[in-house]
Amino acid sequence: MHESIFILRGNIVYSKNPEELNICEHHYLVCENGIVKGVYETLPEEFASCSVTDYEDRLIIPGLVDLHVHAPQYAFRGLGMDLELLDWLDTHTFPEESKYEDLDYAQKAYTIFAENMRNSATTRAVVFATIHRQATLLLMDLLEKSGLNTMVGKVNMDRNSPDYLCEASAEASALETVEWIKDVMHKKYKHTKPILTPRFTPSCSDELMEKLKMIQMRYNLPVQSHLSENPGEIEWVKELCPWSEFYGDAYDRFGLFGVDCKTVMAHCVYSDDKEVQRMKDNGVFIAHCPESNINLSSGVAPVKKYIKEGLHVGLGSDLAAGSTENIFQAMAHAIQASKMRWRMLDDSWKALTVEEAFYIATKGGGEFFGKVGSFEPGYEFDAVILDDSRLKYPQDLDVKKRLERIIYFSDDREIFAKYVEGEKLF
Ligand code: GUN
Ligand code: FE
Repeated sequence: MHESIFILRGNIVYSKNPEELNICEHHYLVCENGIVKGVYETLPEEFASCSVTDYEDRLIIPGLVDLHVHAPQYAFRGLGMDLELLDWLDTHTFPEESKYEDLDYAQKAYTIFAENMRNSATTRAVVFATIHRQATLLLMDLLEKSGLNTMVGKVNMDRNSPDYLCEASAEASALETVEWIKDVMHKKYKHTKPILTPRFTPSCSDELMEKLKMIQMRYNLPVQSHLSENPGEIEWVKELCPWSEFYGDAYDRFGLFGVDCKTVMAHCVYSDDKEVQRMKDNGVFIAHCPESNINLSSGVAPVKKYIKEGLHVGLGSDLAAGSTENIFQAMAHAIQASKMRWRMLDDSWKALTVEEAFYIATKGGGEFFGKVGSFEPGYEFDAVILDDSRLKYPQDLDVKKRLERIIYFSDDREIFAKYVEGEKLF
């Protein structure tokens, strides 16, 4: 392989753990063949002849990770936020998702989504599409072209769904899924991978779950779904799966809950001790989606507890229950929601710190992709360069304070450059 080394210089910030930020002012960040070689105060002799891009006083951070996002819902962000989950699905989500049977509509809508994701600070995303195979492939084509690194799922739904958004049977849903996987293998994408996506237990029959496990094993695929988001949803799962010990057990019985199958579950607002223990034992990732949980009156997940107990936690925008793809906003929402939780619900877990929010937005979620989300040696090189000169301030601010301001009130205008897997996007 052709050896390629390049070097960035600037104020480098990254996490090794949830407790502290590594802040390296005016340091060098070396990328070799798409992998982080190291962060250096003075450039080692061996790199003396390599090109250096000097980003001067700007911040350089790992690309952000969106561990849970619904691409087809981008079109109706901000609408219907007066409803709870199940009514919101029926009233807004399912009608909108049914439009993706029409490829012209899908092209239009997914082009906007892919473009805005590209322009954001997100370098990795785990994405729900819809039940439609062709539209899902179209989305994957667009995301591949965007240069982001993503996992994308054709959604499975074979029960308790409106006729216009329900697959004919478990058999039909499984067959369509296999065809989709074969199509994806044919495409030979470099940055876009398939992920199995049973929508959630209420919309997937036991028979479908069994078939999805067979597919999961045959193609060795990761899995994404929703878990313990809303009280009404949880009661419904108890009725549908009376044999389950808890909601997560209704996935685990089918082998779709970690262990030998990399799994991410969105929300986990109401996970009881048994469910938390099972997620820990099985290595299940939690996608914390604070804005979604506020908008749909779902609640506030005990994310501080999850981090302290060593579970895998990342952040999700959960568009369109969340209104923005901006994961800096998700960090701020996570901190804000945790404060309300501590004050009003449970003072045994303090509010999230900036360090913790930054960690879950980068390395915490990045672990779902492997060695991603940090600048430790050996990590895949995803980086975002931030220029906060528009956010004027009269006083002297250190790099940490500048990062805090960026988390709370920056937008795409602060994103100066972006690299994914060692490739410069802009
Ligand atoms: N549970 C099942 N489907 C969905 C969805 O589209 N959004 C959210 N937030 N929760 C879900
Ligand atoms: Fe969701």
